[in-house]
Amino acid sequence: MAKDAGALATAAAAVQEDVPRWRRHLHAHPELSFHEEATAQFVDDTLRTFPGLEVSRPTRTSVMARLSGAAHGPVIALRADMDALPITEENDFEFASTNPGVMHACGHDGHTAILLGTAKVLSGLRQDLKGEVRFLFQHAEELFPGGAQQMVDAGVMEGVDLVLGAHLWMPIEVGKVGVAAGPLLAAPDTFRIVVQGRGGHAAQPHLTVDSVAVGAQIVTNLQHVVARCTDPFDPLVVSVTKFIAGTADNIIPGSAELVGTVRSFNPQLRKDVPPLMERIVKGLTEAHGAGYTFEYRNGYRPVINDEKVTRWLRESLVETFGPERVVAEGLASMGGEDFSAFQTKAPGTFFLIGAGNPAKGIVHPHHHPRFTVDEDALPMGVQAFVHGVFDLLERAGAEKAAAL
Ligand code: NI
Repeated sequence: MAKDAGALATAAAAVQEDVPRWRRHLHAHPELSFHEEATAQFVDDTLRTFPGLEVSRPTRTSVMARLSGAAHGPVIALRADMDALPITEENDFEFASTNPGVMHACGHDGHTAILLGTAKVLSGLRQDLKGEVRFLFQHAEELFPGGAQQMVDAGVMEGVDLVLGAHLWMPIEVGKVGVAAGPLLAAPDTFRIVVQGRGGHAAQPHLTVDSVAVGAQIVTNLQHVVARCTDPFDPLVVSVTKFIAGTADNIIPGSAELVGTVRSFNPQLRKDVPPLMERIVKGLTEAHGAGYTFEYRNGYRPVINDEKVTRWLRESLVETFGPERVVAEGLASMGGEDFSAFQTKAPGTFFLIGAGNPAKGIVHPHHHPRFTVDEDALPMGVQAFVHGVFDLLERAGAEKAAAL
């Protein structure tokens, strides 16, 4: 421990009331991706009340704050995302969304509040910091092309040695944190297929090329990519999530649109899948006399946690919370996260803060209209970041010194 654990706990306790208050304010005022104007202003204003921070706007709705310690050392970046989702909130607590049709249903309100709390604590401890802490309040995690890449392009990662991010996580019960090296979150790619048939009367199918019947075969045949064309030890999801065709019960529609997502970790598999899909689309449409268009778009890169930084963070978390509260198994999922954009510029790790609590009825999954987090997770997040900063700056600093 780079700094006395008791002193850190005392400092963290100083924000015990601020963080839930900030989170509730943000929860009541959610904003959609790329439109986080009031949120960014709130973060900006709040950061300016903490001494020693240099606050800037890398993009219109993102905020960065730099905190230089008394001594020179490595640079660690901490990231929180700030955007909400187009969901109508069904919670009835007093801080429920006041912005109709928009809701913090993923916990990004909590991420922002946790990072504000972390900034306040570290601002008070800057005399003890050996290095720089860079706080990245990111816009637009939920909507491709994402805010992370824009912030990277704006130069926020210049000179950064390591990067940490976290997500409040419902599948983990409150009081625990999850951290694991290697693949954590998948690459979320998307596709759009249009089957071009020939429309006509439903009573005369022989005079048409039925785009619905061909499209239905494409839906089922695409599963062969997963089941028969790729290594079962390589995780892969192919899902058609939207199938649009037709206008009436007596018309065979001339075209059908199929939209969906592909999730993977392995970069080679990610390259292999689109041609395998197109081969099926091409074969099936040809067999039935239809035409097609096939569009494929790569989404965020997968989140792959760096071995060394993850080990350092795990050791810090174990020291802070005890080994029984640090989970390492079963964390990976096929969800996506643009935190990966920051990981292209510096080794980093993305960890999970348990936020579920069945005893309090906090059970609804991310992106659900009744989603909420157990606020007991918030101080844990602050502690994890504050301790992590001291421990990782010390580790990275010692490694840099040894390399000289
Ligand atoms: Ni999220």
